Amino acid sequence: MKTQVCIVGAGPSGLLLSQLLHNQGIDTVILERKTRAYVLTRIRAGVLERGFVDLMRLAGVGKRMDDEGFIHDGTVIANGQDHFRVSFKDRANDHVVVYGQTELTRDLYDERERTDGKIIYEVDGVVIHGADSDAPYVTYVKDNTEHRIDCAYVAGCDGFHGVSRKTIPATVRREYEKLYPFGWLGVLSETPPVHDELVYSRSDRGFALCSMRNENLSRYYVQCSLSDAPDDWTDAAFWDELKARIPDEFADKLVTGPSIEKSIAPLRSFVTEPMRWGRLFLCGDAAHIVPPTGAKGLNTAASDIHYLYYALVAKFKDGEDEGLETYSEKALARIWKAERFSWTTTMLLHNFPEQGAFDLRMQQADINFLKENEAAQTVFAENYVGLPF
Ligand code: APR
Ligand code: PHB
Repeated sequence: MKTQVCIVGAGPSGLLLSQLLHNQGIDTVILERKTRAYVLTRIRAGVLERGFVDLMRLAGVGKRMDDEGFIHDGTVIANGQDHFRVSFKDRANDHVVVYGQTELTRDLYDERERTDGKIIYEVDGVVIHGADSDAPYVTYVKDNTEHRIDCAYVAGCDGFHGVSRKTIPATVRREYEKLYPFGWLGVLSETPPVHDELVYSRSDRGFALCSMRNENLSRYYVQCSLSDAPDDWTDAAFWDELKARIPDEFADKLVTGPSIEKSIAPLRSFVTEPMRWGRLFLCGDAAHIVPPTGAKGLNTAASDIHYLYYALVAKFKDGEDEGLETYSEKALARIWKAERFSWTTTMLLHNFPEQGAFDLRMQQADINFLKENEAAQTVFAENYVGLPF
């Protein structure tokens, strides 16, 4: 089989790139290890920056997001019983759109199906060959038979555990990582959200976040130990802990109910450099991970897709190499800033086992500065709504 761009991974990154290229008449094939149904069971954040929203519209997949997504003009930050609001509108003249990643991924699948996109599911043993040559190809096994796809370029959109990143030789690849000494226990419940904006809460018992998917679907998190398992937490224990970590004003009106999903995610910051090796380009989680505190996971993928999409169009339509040549540099420049924001927000709001009395005072001073200082709020708001591409 032959295609112009072989895309490994049918998560949001791979699907979005494929749809955008298709709309420009550029042919792609996506190889996905799992089934569509499996990919759609993954529950992930759903706070979209303008850059992501614009790409969805450009791909022709923005309708449901525009109809059903919620515009958020600000967020609440709580510290013990105290809380304040950072206005994205006043400080950064912008907003974010709350629309679940599951829904957005479903919209992308539906559009790829409607436009006859080629997605090969349940593939094994994907190997990228000759990425540093002029004639790369990708092999994979499906139904016990090995297949080969010849292509001009390979987009590695296969997430943190994929094969693309590891295809770049260890002598070339540099990896930067920070592991945090806790996880987030997340619960999805068919209950109305406690507030109409997100509440990020620091407390002496640890961090908590009140988020949402729609009017009757809430997503809540509490910071937990890495040794905890979701089953260690009954629903009642979860709700009690959440209430103890948010100001009474919110706790008193929290509507609880049975959890319909409960999972624990570790927190990690990770970047690999370079993001391009010859004709292989890494996008999204394949190249970088952020802790979820700043809601940047999906949004960092968006800037990669933006740069790679325009670079591939310039190459295929006008024979221009510059976008492809500078892809890694441009993508990384923005990624590191998103890493910085996710890291500082994580440090600001969590309990750390090694935190001494001085560190705690510093954390309090940081939060109070954000509460009282307009310039600090501007920095927060500009980062939260997304730095320009
Ligand atoms: N071969 C084929 N497909 C693979 C392989 C492989 N060896 N390894 C992984 N995959 C597939 C996974 O099954 C998954 O569907 O690649 C896809 C990667 O998707 P994601 O992990 O969702 O990564 P990405 O598309 O970059 O999405 C960005 O934003 O909110 C964050 O982390 C969150 O998923 C989110 C990410
Ligand atoms: C979520 O809704 O799952 C969510 C929202 C904001 C975050 C992280 C997760 O920062």
